[in-house]
Amino acid sequence: MTDGPYSVAVLIGSLRRDSLNRKMARALEGLAPSSLRLVEVPIGGLPLYNQDLDHEPLPPWVEFRDRIRKADAVLFVTPEYNRSIPGGLKNAIDVGSRPSGHSAFRGKPAAVISVSPGAIGGFGANQHIRQALVFLDMPTLQQPEAYIGGAGSLFDADGSLVKEDTKAFLRQFLDAFAGWIERLRS
Ligand code: FNR
Repeated sequence: MTDGPYSVAVLIGSLRRDSLNRKMARALEGLAPSSLRLVEVPIGGLPLYNQDLDHEPLPPWVEFRDRIRKADAVLFVTPEYNRSIPGGLKNAIDVGSRPSGHSAFRGKPAAVISVSPGAIGGFGANQHIRQALVFLDMPTLQQPEAYIGGAGSLFDADGSLVKEDTKAFLRQFLDAFAGWIERLRS
C-alpha cells in the first residue's frame, strides 16, 4: 500500500453510456476525501473468463489484474440485474481472482455501493458481491451500507448529483471507507 492518497480501483457494473452507476462513480470522485484517489478500472473489454487459459492469459486479463494489483483498495459501484450481480461485473471478479492462488483482489479493502432507479437500491446485487468478497478474502466495509434507490431523480441533465442529502451520505460513506483502508494499513 502507498502512504496516501490511497488509490481506489472503481469497478462499475454497468456498461451503458448513460449509466446511473457511472454518474454515481463520477460524483464519488468529487466527494471523496483528499486521502482517496478514485480511478475507474474499465471492465467492458474483458473477454469471458476461461480456466483453460490460466497458463496463457489474454492480454486484457493481464492488464486488468495488474491494475487491480496496483490499487490500494477496490470500490464496486453497481446496478442490480435480475436481483443479482450484472454478468460483466461478475466476469471481472472472476478474471481478477484467478489463477488460483494468485488473485489480484486478495486482502484488498473493499466497499460496495449499489444504485437503482427502484426502491430497494440494488440490495440483491450488493449482498451477492459481498458474498463473493468473503471468498476473495477482501476485508469489506460493513457500515454504512449503501443501497441507493430512486436513482432516476438524483442527477441533473449534465449527470451531476443534485440531491444534497445523498451527497452528505456519500461523503460519510467515503470517509468511513478511507478510515477502513487506513485502519487495515496500520
Ligand atoms: C434491470 N434492472 C433492475 N433493477 C433492479 O432494481 N433490480 C433488478 O433486479 C433489475 N434487473 C434488471 C435486469 C436487467 C438485465 C436490466 C438491463 C435492468 C433495472 C436497472 O436497475 C436499471 O436499468 C438501471 O438504470 C441500470 O443501471 P445503470 O445502467 O443506469 O447504471
